[in-house]
Amino acid sequence: MNYGRFSDDGREYIITNAATPAPWINYIYNGRYFATISNNGGGISYYKSPLHGRITRYRINDVPPDRPGKYIYIRDLDSGSIWSLTWQPVGRRVEAYRVIHGFGYTRAEADVEGIASSVLYFVPADDDREIWRTRLTNTSGRPRRLAVTGYVEFALGHALVDLINQCDDQHFNRAHFEKDLNALFATKTYWVTETRGTQHQENKEWDQWAFFTVNTPIAAYETVRERFIGPYRSETNPLAVESGQLSSRDTDFGNTVGALQTDIELAPGQTRDIVFSMGVIPKPEFESRKRGAALAFRDSASIEGAFAQVRENWRSFFSRTRVETPDAQANIFLNGWSPYQAKVAFDVGRVASFYYWGIGRGFGFRDTAQDVIAITLSDRAKARERIGLLARQMQKDGRVYHHFYGDGQGEFTKHCDDPLWFILAVTEYIKETGDFGLLDEKETYLDAEPGPILEHLLAVVHFARTNTARHGLPIFGRGDWNDTLDYIGGEEGGESVWGGMFYAAMLDRLVELLEAAGRPGSAPEVRAVRDRFRAAVEEHCWDGEWYIRAFGENDRRIGSRENTYGKIFINTQSWAVIAGLPDRARLVRAMDSARRLLGCTYGPKICAPAFREIDPKIGLITRCVRGKKENGAVFCHPAAWLIQAECLLGRGDAAYDYYRTLLPDRVDSDIFVAEPYVYSQYITSDEHEGAGRASHSWQTGTAAWMYRVSFDYILGIRPTYAGLLIDPVIPSSWPGFKAERVFRGTRYFIEVENPDGVESGVGSIAVDGHPIEGSILPISDAPESGVRVRLGR
Ligand code: GLC
Repeated sequence: MNYGRFSDDGREYIITNAATPAPWINYIYNGRYFATISNNGGGISYYKSPLHGRITRYRINDVPPDRPGKYIYIRDLDSGSIWSLTWQPVGRRVEAYRVIHGFGYTRAEADVEGIASSVLYFVPADDDREIWRTRLTNTSGRPRRLAVTGYVEFALGHALVDLINQCDDQHFNRAHFEKDLNALFATKTYWVTETRGTQHQENKEWDQWAFFTVNTPIAAYETVRERFIGPYRSETNPLAVESGQLSSRDTDFGNTVGALQTDIELAPGQTRDIVFSMGVIPKPEFESRKRGAALAFRDSASIEGAFAQVRENWRSFFSRTRVETPDAQANIFLNGWSPYQAKVAFDVGRVASFYYWGIGRGFGFRDTAQDVIAITLSDRAKARERIGLLARQMQKDGRVYHHFYGDGQGEFTKHCDDPLWFILAVTEYIKETGDFGLLDEKETYLDAEPGPILEHLLAVVHFARTNTARHGLPIFGRGDWNDTLDYIGGEEGGESVWGGMFYAAMLDRLVELLEAAGRPGSAPEVRAVRDRFRAAVEEHCWDGEWYIRAFGENDRRIGSRENTYGKIFINTQSWAVIAGLPDRARLVRAMDSARRLLGCTYGPKICAPAFREIDPKIGLITRCVRGKKENGAVFCHPAAWLIQAECLLGRGDAAYDYYRTLLPDRVDSDIFVAEPYVYSQYITSDEHEGAGRASHSWQTGTAAWMYRVSFDYILGIRPTYAGLLIDPVIPSSWPGFKAERVFRGTRYFIEVENPDGVESGVGSIAVDGHPIEGSILPISDAPESGVRVRLGR
């Protein structure tokens, strides 16, 4: 079944059948004010934090799903006919709707009973509000009178407390309408800022006022959900819309909503813009700013201006890279949707989606560090800021919070990998920017006075060196990258083989950085630690045809041919290559084993066979249904590393084959379920009868990695300290490709030719007509540079 398609230029996804198998969402935000918006108008809005600053509610696990949202109801004042401008919540006339998700905006179009509508949802860059510009055109040929009602349901503060303590929480809600401003205001006189669900009563109030307004005079309004919806009804058939009776009463209690009804007349052929907007005003500034907030964005010019700004910001974000490969589908992702998803995941911090409700967890340390690689190219300042945030989650001994909220709150777990990801973020940032000065900039520790970033990096080395066990591999603790290998070895403890490879890879990056920075002082020590990890892996972890995944209790080998389930894991094959292990024959064998034993129609599986028995000395993975999540699904994030590893081996056909298989719009949507324009965390594998179903879309490390791996390793254009490296590893069937990339102020126009049909190996490179030695383009002061690359001899 087909629910939509990309626009011709690939920059929009157009949903033509609103009854998608799951909500297909988009994000509109400016970095402070965030909103999700589905193809059916569902979604949340929050200010800065979906946990602490939740503006609107979203009912999790609800039936039907995806409610409430940002709804606009129409009631024909003559016929009494009712519909909504997105298919849901009223749910009429599926065929006439079109929803367009673009970069930073969503537009819902409909044509119902002679009223053509188009609602543009976006968040201005400089104003903390969302705008719903509703354009109505009367195509019916007769005069029309319509009641147009915008509707939201408020949460007002702490989303988790709102959920678990609603019976008490509702006693602190206040909402009132101010006639001269034509605006409704709502807040809560109580606020909890702890991250947990708690009974602790903090002595404070929510620090925001929410406002909801429209640019045409209000005929009536509502502030209480029960009065709007009515008993035993839902958003599908609200009593107030049906009866046309909104109470126009303020309230100081209850489930608080904002409903604004405005009555309009449309002559035949006439078009009118009705502009709803909802936003926040910090409490101390409420009196001085509320008039300005309510009156802003009432005219078309200011809205067009703000929308043009949003489009320009995204255009500028995308302008750093551009590709033209023989694969049109890949081009759509590489030029738009991959970097877009990566940036959204970075900005949202992975906490809010249709799957993550923004109530359970803060920023993951490892997730955040990986997300940094999505934006080093486009936003150096933001990358720097995020590195600072990460540094501040570290103790002097190198241990870091596993997840944190940025306000000093966080949680230590015993994952063995977390601190090492810091090295990835710092090295990618410096490679891109050349900003070695970062190493001397100071950031505080959780438990100590500020120290330079270099010292933080060396604290990580200290952690790596000391967190080792019997075989010289990292003590597994409560997990490594794989959160569900959480009881390896039971209480006795186990060792992470992937951890050993990962430590080696990160320490190798650090050695390279110290040398490039002209600070080689600690390099010998770091190199020695790196070599010990490489040696430990080589000595103990080869299983004959692949690398094992872990040691459990009593030297038990996990991820080995001796096992019944989980014989082979993806990460210890790909990272053997990424870690630079020396034995090429083994690496090739390991990667071939991965291809043979992990491959399925939907991509490479995270491990196989999936576990079918609970093993408390392995952990959560064995408790999970087979073929889903970490228990044998196609987990897309490590699949990106498999692509990287194939490229490092120079095997372009294999790398591209994985890449193509994983493109999200390849599978029938009735099977795939999740959005076809972004990657999901995982795709159910052939070990489950629901094979092919994707889940946890948008907020996944896949976003940043697929973007970077495809650009850096398949196209092979990647930053190094010395300059931009060109080392494509492409399918032999490609005659070549073109790419543009900005690096240290120069825009490179790169043309790659592959006359001999090879998979890798640069024959010659000419920069502005002059041949160069090697594959690194020297750093240049020219604004533009033309690069011709010939693969093969
Ligand atoms: C989830 C987590 C990520 C973890 C992965 C594998 O995506 O966000 O941190 O590495 O699962 O367990």
